Amino acid sequence: MSEHALLKKALLNATRSMTQAKNDGYRPGWHLSPLVGLLNDPNGFIQFAGQYHLFYQWNPLACAHGAKWWGHWRSDDLVNWQNEPVALLPGDVYDSHGCYSGSAVDDNGTLSLLYTGNVKFAQGRTAWQCLATVDDAGEVTKAGPVIGLPEGYTGHVRDPKVWRHGEHWYMVLGAQNLQQQGKVLLYRGDTLQQWTLLGEIAGSHLNGLGEFGYMWECPDLFALGEQDVLMFCPQGLPAQAQRWLNTHQSGYVTGQLNYSKAAYQHGDFHELDLGFEFYAPQTTLGDDGRRLLFGWVGMPDENEFYDPTREQGWMHIMSCPRELRLVEGRLYQQPVDELKSLRGAHQRLEERADSLAITDVAQAELVISAEGSWQADFGGAMLLICDESGLRLRRQNRRTGETETRYWSGQVRQLQILCDRSSLEIFVNDGEATLTSRYFPAEGHTLRWQGSGELRVDHWQLQSIML
Ligand code: FRU
Repeated sequence: MSEHALLKKALLNATRSMTQAKNDGYRPGWHLSPLVGLLNDPNGFIQFAGQYHLFYQWNPLACAHGAKWWGHWRSDDLVNWQNEPVALLPGDVYDSHGCYSGSAVDDNGTLSLLYTGNVKFAQGRTAWQCLATVDDAGEVTKAGPVIGLPEGYTGHVRDPKVWRHGEHWYMVLGAQNLQQQGKVLLYRGDTLQQWTLLGEIAGSHLNGLGEFGYMWECPDLFALGEQDVLMFCPQGLPAQAQRWLNTHQSGYVTGQLNYSKAAYQHGDFHELDLGFEFYAPQTTLGDDGRRLLFGWVGMPDENEFYDPTREQGWMHIMSCPRELRLVEGRLYQQPVDELKSLRGAHQRLEERADSLAITDVAQAELVISAEGSWQADFGGAMLLICDESGLRLRRQNRRTGETETRYWSGQVRQLQILCDRSSLEIFVNDGEATLTSRYFPAEGHTLRWQGSGELRVDHWQLQSIML
């Protein structure tokens, strides 16, 4: 389709669905979501010249995956965001089938985007890592490919995450080798145009991992405290009793990257989030030194197309912005402090679980100190069970109708739950674990507890800023 035809289709689709999508009761009040169409990965997250920019994988033409565009939002405070003109449109020979995920850097005062040009053929596909720049007016100019497909890999090489270290640029790419093993490739750049492949620094069959998936997507490597953290999304890990239960995983390892030897030693893989929907997260370093993260509250599998919002012309949301810390070698995530500005009316409830209910948690923050066993029912669409073994999150699979459960084992001291009409983000013990999921209550956003445990709940209504 020509660029003109694409734009026409997008405009038609947008005007047709916008009112419908806007009036949907599952539309978030304070999370980022697409005006119309399907949103997936956060891309190009950066604080540039003081302002935060968040780009995202977007198909505005349909509630389906396909030739992705880059949408663009801008913010002064990580809470209030404004829509910017579309940043990247597919259609050139090197990105004909999608401007896939990537990152943003400040190249000496120029906001520069590195992304994957996805090109499909009748049989197979190839991938180009491409450069584009954004001028002061927000106008994006594509500079074309800077890296072609490296030898020994399939067409699944993508998702450049770029950072500066010393005198050079570095880039990690998710890749699949010809033996169908997921890998992370490290490149070094003298400029954003000139790159040298240094080698594989992590992957299936590397660093003692054994068989560990057929593809690794969306790598992100950054220093935090004394560690170099590598986040990535391995595909193809077999589900175990209480872990790796989503179709694909999103997790991390910590270790030391030796830049001169291009070697990375790391420890065990940990899931980043234990909920039903969380994938393809990306971080950036804020001007104040915080390591900030957005994740896609979605999961690329057949279940996603059973979301009821699809009929309303839009699908998926971003997570809330989170701050990362490293505590005894593990990543802790907490909602950024700025989100407290959304807090409205407050009440404190101190009761036995059995006699506790809240009639409206559509947009709410709950901070819960709990003792004993209890369960909380969110509008009949999600059950949170808390007992001495930890937490279980339970719902009906929207496609199969079967009950599905996610687990966290440990002692629950405190829970912070952020609710936004069709999403729950649960932070355990000040960020020790998180469980992020969509839920679609059919008959109102009530919350009813059961059980003998004693609860103390701080409940804030959260303001609407997106509607
Ligand atoms: C992850 C992902 C990326 C890819 C993008 C395409 O969700 O598959 O690997 O670049 O989505 O939209």
